[in-house]
Amino acid sequence: MSGATGTGDVGYDELAVLKLLALDGAHRGEVKVSCGDLAGRLDASSQTASRRLQALEDAGYATRDLVSDGQWVAVTEDGQAALEREYEDYRRIFDDPGELALDGTVTSGMGEGRHYISLPGYNRQFVEKLGYDPYPGTLNVDLTKESQRARSAMQSLTGVDIEGWEDEERTYGPATCYRCTVLADDADFAGAHVIVPDRTHHDESQLEVIAPEKLRDELGLLDDDEVTIRVEEQ
Ligand code: CDP
Repeated sequence: MSGATGTGDVGYDELAVLKLLALDGAHRGEVKVSCGDLAGRLDASSQTASRRLQALEDAGYATRDLVSDGQWVAVTEDGQAALEREYEDYRRIFDDPGELALDGTVTSGMGEGRHYISLPGYNRQFVEKLGYDPYPGTLNVDLTKESQRARSAMQSLTGVDIEGWEDEERTYGPATCYRCTVLADDADFAGAHVIVPDRTHHDESQLEVIAPEKLRDELGLLDDDEVTIRVEEQ
Protein backbone atom coordinates (compact mmCIF):
# COMPACT_ATOMS: atom_id res chain seq x y z
CA MET A 1 0.00 0.00 0.00
CA SER A 2 1.29 3.41 -0.79
CA GLY A 3 1.20 6.02 1.92
CA ALA A 4 1.48 3.50 4.75
CA THR A 5 3.71 4.79 7.50
CA GLY A 6 5.62 2.68 9.92
CA THR A 7 2.96 0.16 10.85
CA GLY A 8 3.83 -2.73 8.58
CA ASP A 9 1.46 -3.32 5.73
CA VAL A 10 -1.20 -0.73 6.43
CA GLY A 11 -1.33 2.87 7.53
CA TYR A 12 -2.67 4.35 10.74
CA ASP A 13 -6.07 5.03 9.20
CA GLU A 14 -6.52 1.33 8.53
CA LEU A 15 -5.21 0.44 11.97
CA ALA A 16 -7.88 2.66 13.47
CA VAL A 17 -10.50 0.60 11.60
CA LEU A 18 -8.86 -2.60 12.78
CA LYS A 19 -9.13 -1.34 16.34
CA LEU A 20 -12.83 -0.54 15.93
CA LEU A 21 -13.43 -4.01 14.52
CA ALA A 22 -11.64 -5.60 17.46
CA LEU A 23 -13.62 -3.44 19.89
CA ASP A 24 -16.72 -4.98 18.30
CA GLY A 25 -15.28 -8.44 18.94
CA ALA A 26 -13.96 -9.19 15.46
CA HIS A 27 -10.74 -10.67 16.90
CA ARG A 28 -12.85 -13.47 18.40
CA GLY A 29 -14.82 -14.28 15.26
CA GLU A 30 -16.87 -12.77 12.48
CA VAL A 31 -18.95 -9.69 13.21
CA LYS A 32 -21.48 -8.05 10.97
CA VAL A 33 -20.31 -4.70 9.67
CA SER A 34 -22.14 -2.13 7.61
CA CYS A 35 -19.96 0.39 5.82
CA GLY A 36 -22.47 3.12 6.62
CA ASP A 37 -22.15 2.45 10.35
CA LEU A 38 -18.43 2.17 10.21
CA ALA A 39 -18.23 5.39 8.20
CA GLY A 40 -20.21 7.18 10.90
CA ARG A 41 -17.84 6.04 13.60
CA LEU A 42 -14.84 7.01 11.55
CA ASP A 43 -16.33 10.33 10.59
CA ALA A 44 -15.57 9.43 6.97
CA SER A 45 -17.52 8.53 3.87
CA SER A 46 -18.86 5.07 3.18
CA GLN A 47 -16.40 4.69 0.33
CA THR A 48 -13.52 5.52 2.62
CA ALA A 49 -14.67 2.96 5.19
CA SER A 50 -15.03 0.38 2.45
CA ARG A 51 -11.59 1.19 1.03
CA ARG A 52 -9.98 0.76 4.44
CA LEU A 53 -11.67 -2.59 5.00
CA GLN A 54 -10.42 -3.64 1.59
CA ALA A 55 -6.89 -2.57 2.51
CA LEU A 56 -7.07 -4.58 5.74
CA GLU A 57 -8.13 -7.61 3.75
CA ASP A 58 -5.35 -7.09 1.21
CA ALA A 59 -2.81 -6.89 4.03
CA GLY A 60 -4.11 -10.14 5.50
CA TYR A 61 -5.27 -8.37 8.66
CA ALA A 62 -8.97 -9.12 8.18
CA THR A 63 -11.22 -11.52 6.30
CA ARG A 64 -14.42 -10.33 4.70
CA ASP A 65 -17.54 -12.09 3.50
CA LEU A 66 -19.86 -9.79 1.59
CA VAL A 67 -23.57 -10.42 1.99
CA SER A 68 -26.60 -8.47 0.76
CA ASP A 69 -26.94 -6.22 3.79
CA GLY A 70 -23.33 -5.72 4.76
CA GLN A 71 -20.30 -7.90 5.39
CA TRP A 72 -19.02 -10.34 7.95
CA VAL A 73 -15.56 -9.32 9.06
CA ALA A 74 -13.03 -11.04 11.30
CA VAL A 75 -9.60 -9.90 12.42
CA THR A 76 -6.93 -12.46 11.47
CA GLU A 77 -3.95 -13.51 13.58
CA ASP A 78 -1.77 -11.10 11.64
CA GLY A 79 -4.30 -8.38 12.34
CA GLN A 80 -4.19 -9.17 16.04
CA ALA A 81 -0.42 -9.08 15.97
CA ALA A 82 -0.60 -5.60 14.43
CA LEU A 83 -2.89 -4.45 17.25
CA GLU A 84 -0.60 -6.00 19.82
CA ARG A 85 2.28 -3.97 18.43
CA GLU A 86 0.23 -0.83 19.00
CA TYR A 87 -0.63 -2.03 22.48
CA GLU A 88 3.04 -2.57 23.18
CA ASP A 89 3.73 1.05 22.24
CA TYR A 90 1.05 2.30 24.61
CA ARG A 91 2.37 0.05 27.35
CA ARG A 92 5.76 1.63 26.93
CA ILE A 93 4.19 5.06 27.25
CA PHE A 94 1.90 4.41 30.18
CA ASP A 95 3.00 1.34 32.11
CA ASP A 96 6.65 1.93 32.36
CA PRO A 97 6.82 5.21 34.24
CA GLY A 98 10.36 4.57 33.40
CA GLU A 99 13.29 6.01 34.90
CA LEU A 100 14.77 9.23 34.04
CA ALA A 101 18.54 9.23 33.72
CA LEU A 102 20.07 12.67 34.19
CA ASP A 103 23.75 13.27 33.50
CA GLY A 104 26.00 15.85 35.01
CA THR A 105 29.15 16.59 36.96
CA VAL A 106 29.70 16.92 40.68
CA THR A 107 30.17 20.45 41.87
CA SER A 108 30.54 22.32 45.14
CA GLY A 109 27.85 24.68 46.34
CA MET A 110 28.17 27.39 48.90
CA GLY A 111 27.83 25.17 51.92
CA GLU A 112 24.13 25.96 52.30
CA GLY A 113 22.94 22.39 51.92
CA ARG A 114 24.40 21.38 55.23
CA HIS A 115 22.43 24.11 56.99
CA TYR A 116 19.07 23.38 55.38
CA ILE A 117 19.18 19.61 55.65
CA SER A 118 19.94 19.88 59.36
CA LEU A 119 17.04 22.24 60.16
CA PRO A 120 14.67 20.37 62.46
CA GLY A 121 11.56 21.42 60.48
CA TYR A 122 12.91 19.59 57.44
CA ASN A 123 14.93 16.92 59.17
CA ARG A 124 11.93 15.51 61.02
CA GLN A 125 10.11 15.08 57.71
CA PHE A 126 13.07 13.38 56.04
CA VAL A 127 13.26 10.84 58.83
CA GLU A 128 9.53 10.26 58.79
CA LYS A 129 8.86 10.33 55.06
CA LEU A 130 12.11 9.11 53.47
CA GLY A 131 12.97 6.72 56.25
CA TYR A 132 16.47 8.01 56.98
CA ASP A 133 18.32 10.82 58.64
CA PRO A 134 20.21 12.40 55.72
CA TYR A 135 23.90 13.20 55.76
CA PRO A 136 23.90 16.95 56.48
CA GLY A 137 24.37 18.48 53.07
CA THR A 138 23.37 18.15 49.44
CA LEU A 139 25.48 16.76 46.63
CA ASN A 140 25.23 19.32 43.84
CA VAL A 141 25.23 18.09 40.25
CA ASP A 142 25.65 20.41 37.27
CA LEU A 143 23.39 18.95 34.59
CA THR A 144 24.35 18.67 30.93
CA LYS A 145 22.28 20.76 28.49
CA GLU A 146 20.20 17.72 27.45
CA SER A 147 19.53 16.74 31.04
CA GLN A 148 18.49 20.28 31.95
CA ARG A 149 15.69 19.81 29.44
CA ALA A 150 14.97 16.22 30.37
CA ARG A 151 14.56 17.08 34.03
CA SER A 152 11.06 18.47 33.42
CA ALA A 153 9.89 14.84 33.03
CA MET A 154 10.61 14.42 36.74
CA GLN A 155 7.25 16.06 37.44
CA SER A 156 5.48 13.00 36.03
CA LEU A 157 7.08 10.79 38.69
CA THR A 158 5.62 10.43 42.14
CA GLY A 159 7.58 12.37 44.69
CA VAL A 160 7.49 12.74 48.45
CA ASP A 161 6.11 16.08 49.60
CA ILE A 162 8.17 17.91 52.17
CA GLU A 163 6.04 20.62 53.70
CA GLY A 164 7.06 24.18 54.30
CA TRP A 165 7.28 25.43 57.88
CA GLU A 166 8.30 28.50 59.82
CA ASP A 167 10.14 29.57 62.93
CA GLU A 168 10.10 32.96 64.69
CA GLU A 169 12.30 34.54 62.06
CA ARG A 170 11.24 33.27 58.69
CA THR A 171 9.40 30.73 56.60
CA TYR A 172 10.96 27.76 54.88
CA GLY A 173 9.41 26.66 51.60
CA PRO A 174 8.08 23.25 50.63
CA ALA A 175 10.08 20.84 48.47
CA THR A 176 9.62 17.53 46.69
CA CYS A 177 11.93 14.51 46.98
CA TYR A 178 12.29 11.96 44.17
CA ARG A 179 13.93 8.63 44.85
CA CYS A 180 17.10 8.10 42.84
CA THR A 181 20.21 6.03 42.36
CA VAL A 182 23.51 7.83 41.90
CA LEU A 183 25.72 6.09 39.34
CA ALA A 184 29.41 6.89 39.35
CA ASP A 185 32.25 5.28 37.39
CA ASP A 186 32.86 2.30 39.62
CA ALA A 187 29.94 2.23 42.01
CA ASP A 188 26.26 3.07 42.50
CA PHE A 189 24.35 4.36 45.47
CA ALA A 190 20.65 3.45 45.62
CA GLY A 191 18.09 4.96 47.98
CA ALA A 192 19.13 8.59 47.64
CA HIS A 193 16.71 11.43 46.76
CA VAL A 194 16.77 14.42 44.48
CA ILE A 195 15.36 17.34 46.44
CA VAL A 196 13.63 20.10 44.47
CA PRO A 197 12.36 23.27 46.11
CA ASP A 198 8.76 23.94 45.07
CA ARG A 199 9.38 27.63 44.49
CA THR A 200 9.31 28.36 40.79
CA HIS A 201 12.59 30.19 40.42
CA HIS A 202 15.29 27.81 41.39
CA ASP A 203 18.38 26.93 39.40
CA GLU A 204 17.24 24.42 36.77
CA SER A 205 20.81 23.66 35.76
CA GLN A 206 21.64 21.92 39.02
CA LEU A 207 20.26 18.94 40.91
CA GLU A 208 20.66 18.53 44.63
CA VAL A 209 20.83 15.04 46.05
CA ILE A 210 20.43 13.92 49.64
CA ALA A 211 21.28 10.48 50.99
CA PRO A 212 21.75 8.67 54.29
CA GLU A 213 25.51 8.66 53.65
CA LYS A 214 28.10 11.09 52.37
CA LEU A 215 28.02 10.30 48.67
CA ARG A 216 31.46 11.75 47.95
CA ASP A 217 32.94 9.17 50.32
CA GLU A 218 30.69 6.28 49.28
CA LEU A 219 31.36 6.77 45.57
CA GLY A 220 34.79 8.39 45.67
CA LEU A 221 33.51 11.56 44.01
CA LEU A 222 35.49 14.74 43.41
CA ASP A 223 34.38 17.98 41.78
CA ASP A 224 33.91 17.61 37.99
CA ASP A 225 33.43 13.83 38.18
CA GLU A 226 30.65 12.63 35.92
CA VAL A 227 27.61 11.04 37.50
CA THR A 228 24.21 9.83 36.31
CA ILE A 229 21.23 10.40 38.56
CA ARG A 230 18.64 7.76 37.79
CA VAL A 231 15.38 9.17 39.09
CA GLU A 232 12.90 6.43 39.92
CA GLU A 233 9.24 5.98 40.61
CA GLN A 234 8.73 6.17 44.38
O1 CDP B 1 29.40 23.12 49.94
P1 CDP B 1 28.20 22.49 49.36
O2 CDP B 1 27.01 23.37 49.29
O3 CDP B 1 28.45 21.79 48.07
O4 CDP B 1 27.90 21.31 50.33
P2 CDP B 1 26.89 20.92 51.47
O5 CDP B 1 25.54 20.82 50.93
O6 CDP B 1 27.09 21.75 52.69
O7 CDP B 1 27.45 19.44 51.75
C1 CDP B 1 28.75 19.25 52.31
C2 CDP B 1 29.60 18.34 51.45
O8 CDP B 1 29.07 17.01 51.46
C3 CDP B 1 29.66 18.73 49.99
O9 CDP B 1 30.97 18.46 49.55
C4 CDP B 1 28.69 17.80 49.33
O10 CDP B 1 29.03 17.59 47.98
C5 CDP B 1 28.86 16.55 50.16
N1 CDP B 1 27.67 15.65 50.25
C6 CDP B 1 27.81 14.30 49.97
O11 CDP B 1 28.86 13.85 49.56
N2 CDP B 1 26.75 13.45 50.16
C7 CDP B 1 25.58 13.89 50.58
N3 CDP B 1 24.58 13.04 50.77
C8 CDP B 1 25.43 15.27 50.87
C9 CDP B 1 26.49 16.14 50.68
